[in-house]
Amino acid sequence: MADRVHVIGHPLIQHKLTLMRKKDTSTASFRRLLAEISQLLAYEITRDMPTQLVEIETPLMKMQAPVLAGKKIVLVSVLRAGNGLLDGMLQILPSARVGHVGLYRDPETLEAVEYYFKVPKEMQDRDVVVVDPMLATGHSAIAAVSRVKETGPRAIKFACLLAAPEGIANFTEAHPDVDIYTPAIDERLNDHGYILPGLGDAGDRIYGTV
Ligand code: URA
Repeated sequence: MADRVHVIGHPLIQHKLTLMRKKDTSTASFRRLLAEISQLLAYEITRDMPTQLVEIETPLMKMQAPVLAGKKIVLVSVLRAGNGLLDGMLQILPSARVGHVGLYRDPETLEAVEYYFKVPKEMQDRDVVVVDPMLATGHSAIAAVSRVKETGPRAIKFACLLAAPEGIANFTEAHPDVDIYTPAIDERLNDHGYILPGLGDAGDRIYGTV
């Protein structure tokens, strides 16, 4: 597997993902589990973020202590299911800036078509994490990352909840410079572009629209 694909095999994440896959898991539980996994993923994704020393004063003395360096990270959610990952990540990155990419999947071609795009200013000084739970064909993730690249950020990572081998292959071919973070790589896609065994339609399961 390419060096840039990071499978986050942490037991807590694996356990929670299994609960999410079960067809009888309620909307409330699905949402809570997604928020919990998102926080754990954010912890892994930010592991290499640079820090800088600043002077602070504890109740006892002054010291040089580390804080995150540079401008605030940007989380870019691929609507609508990306918002599930986004909400959890914002709980441990509360100062993160947020962008949104609106894409729908053409049912015939399975290609991504953009209908909305908004990101913060000064992207050239920022690191970006694009979030979309299901890396299936990879079309929407590829389109979202291509669009974000046009804004010239310092670096981009991509985070999902589940990936298909087809999506990984397509994505790494289109964006060999972008790291992928996923808790699992499933078997394959079905004829409708759904991941097998997967967990179904992530947006429907997050929002109870099944
Ligand atoms: N999108 C989903 O929500 N689920 C899949 O399995 C594939 C794409």
